Amino acid sequence: MKTKILKIDLNAPSNLTIKYASSVIQKGGLVAFPTETVYGLGANALDSKAVAKIFKVKRRPMDNPLIVHIAKFEELDKLVKIIPSKAKLLIKKFWPGPLTLVFLKKKDVPKEVTAGSKTIAIRMPANKFALELIRSAGVPIAAPSANLAGKPSSTTATHVMGDFNGKIDLIIDGGQTDIGVESTVLDLTENVPIILRPGAVTKEMLEKVIGKVRTLNKNKNGNVKSPGLKYKHYAPEAEMILITGDMNEIVNKTKSLIDFYKKQNKKIGIMTSVETKKSYNAEHTILSVGSRKDLKIVARNLFLTLREFDRLGVEVILAECFPETKIGYAIQNRLKKAASRIY
Ligand code: TXA
Ligand code: MG
Repeated sequence: MKTKILKIDLNAPSNLTIKYASSVIQKGGLVAFPTETVYGLGANALDSKAVAKIFKVKRRPMDNPLIVHIAKFEELDKLVKIIPSKAKLLIKKFWPGPLTLVFLKKKDVPKEVTAGSKTIAIRMPANKFALELIRSAGVPIAAPSANLAGKPSSTTATHVMGDFNGKIDLIIDGGQTDIGVESTVLDLTENVPIILRPGAVTKEMLEKVIGKVRTLNKNKNGNVKSPGLKYKHYAPEAEMILITGDMNEIVNKTKSLIDFYKKQNKKIGIMTSVETKKSYNAEHTILSVGSRKDLKIVARNLFLTLREFDRLGVEVILAECFPETKIGYAIQNRLKKAASRIY
């Protein structure tokens, strides 16, 4: 299969491109498209065969359900059994936006989308092209992040190409995505809603609107609330070590690990902040993700930087951790999952 790539202006996507992309969806094809968080790999959520293709090309475990993307509030009634009052408040405040809500699903939603679960995860993306695409297709679009299972999510069309060239019908290139980490996933089927995956909509922001919200505790084996949580995630090809502590500790620990891996002749990559970048010897591959004072930028650059280390053939990545405030909590969550060791 030849994968077509079409560039768009995110603020003014051409009607022709929207029409073409939505016709691919309607015919049961796969379209990768930008959202405000990361690129999604979309198919008609009501077409079991098209949804099955997503699992196949992503090599995604069959028990890991997909997020369904909608463009109109009325769509929700067709997909879910009940809309709890807390959901209504959250939708009013955060949709369209980077918040995915988990509801009890209606029977006629194909079981492939929800991987056999009684629940369904839904969001309305805050991206003009994504919304126009869903509207024009006239169906809800199931879309996981557009990356091979286990790899860092794609935040540019080039990443999507790298993972899916020749395997999907169309890639819409809308440049680098804005937020850079995936949406917050909130389970509303429990009395006290649970954050299954942290994102740009933080616990504090949610609690301001609906009161108490829980975060998922350490992932106990056996009872996994969000099936995606039990798999390795976001991992670059290189071995990644996450380095914790305050800034001084991070620099000292990193330097001692550099000595260790240098003796083994490993090609070393260091993922730093603007503040620590100058502490290391330029013979190594040093990439800064942004300032510790602006975590939004760090989130935006995170997956892109991990993929860049792979492109440069680095064998070990020594990655600095970031403060867990606001979106920092989501950053730290992704870093922990990507790491093979925390030091
Ligand atoms: O920002 C995002 O959410 C991106 C863009 C493309 O919208 N999508 C995304 O999808 O990150 P994906 O498939 O990579 O991650 C979906 C997460 C997984 O952890 C999955 O287990 C969880 O949501 N999930 C999906 N349906 C669920 C359900 N019914 N119950 C609990 N968790 C669910
Ligand atoms: Mg994903």
